[in-house]
Amino acid sequence: MPAAVGLDRRVVPLEDGFQDVIGKAARGLGLADEALARDAGVSLEEVRRSMRGEFDEGVIRRLAPVLHLGGDALVALGKGDYRPRDPGPIPGFLALHTRWTDMIVNAYLAWDLRSQEAAAFDTGGDCDEMLGAIRDRGLRLRAIFLTHTHGDHIAALARLKEETGARSYVGDREPIPGAEPFAAGAEFCLGSLSIRTLLTSGHSPGGITYLVSGGSRLLAIVGDSLFAGSMGGGNVSYAEALRNNREKVLALPAETVICPGHGPLTSVAEEREHNPFFAS
Ligand SMILES: [Fe+2]
Repeated sequence: MPAAVGLDRRVVPLEDGFQDVIGKAARGLGLADEALARDAGVSLEEVRRSMRGEFDEGVIRRLAPVLHLGGDALVALGKGDYRPRDPGPIPGFLALHTRWTDMIVNAYLAWDLRSQEAAAFDTGGDCDEMLGAIRDRGLRLRAIFLTHTHGDHIAALARLKEETGARSYVGDREPIPGAEPFAAGAEFCLGSLSIRTLLTSGHSPGGITYLVSGGSRLLAIVGDSLFAGSMGGGNVSYAEALRNNREKVLALPAETVICPGHGPLTSVAEEREHNPFFAS
């Protein structure tokens, strides 16, 4: 599949529909369809139709509290009413939407406007567009920071390192060859940018959120920990994923730009209000 060169970030679709959110919550809570139907007072067939993406507001409003999801937010997602506000141009920052198999995977570049020193966050499915952006802007890529090590996020790591000579860093709970491990809490500097690291495990064993400050906007590069209107599945621990998102990401200043591994950019304010997992 060709690279998604020039894919406009304003048209990147949400990663998940309401049915994905319901499925992730049910799996995370260990609730079988039968138990969900019983506790919500709906039929098994109604649960299964919802899981297939057939939207019925009455059913969704009954399922939401059993799944500990915000009913209004889940309904808005189901009606297609939720779309996070685009943060607009951010000097010294670029979102790249790459293709990997049938998915769109995000990677990011942030750089110090004075020194033109840059850091990449994940590589996405391929790094053609990232390499072009580095070349066009005269940036020097110093570091490649990995949010987690699922294949779609690190697919181009070897090539990006080879073409740029940048060093690569990964959280020490997910060590991989070719990346230097660090313990969450470590801080990195890139010119006037400071990069703090927070452990946001749950989707993966050692997922890292990179908090980039000192640029034009505060950025939280979260990988698959959180999406606009959803979150990555709690493959390792659903409870841990929820807690980390709530306590570490959504506790950041409201205007923080959230840069997820899939789907559009969003903000802490938007997700506190509109993400069904966190909106009360
Ligand atoms: Fe992932």
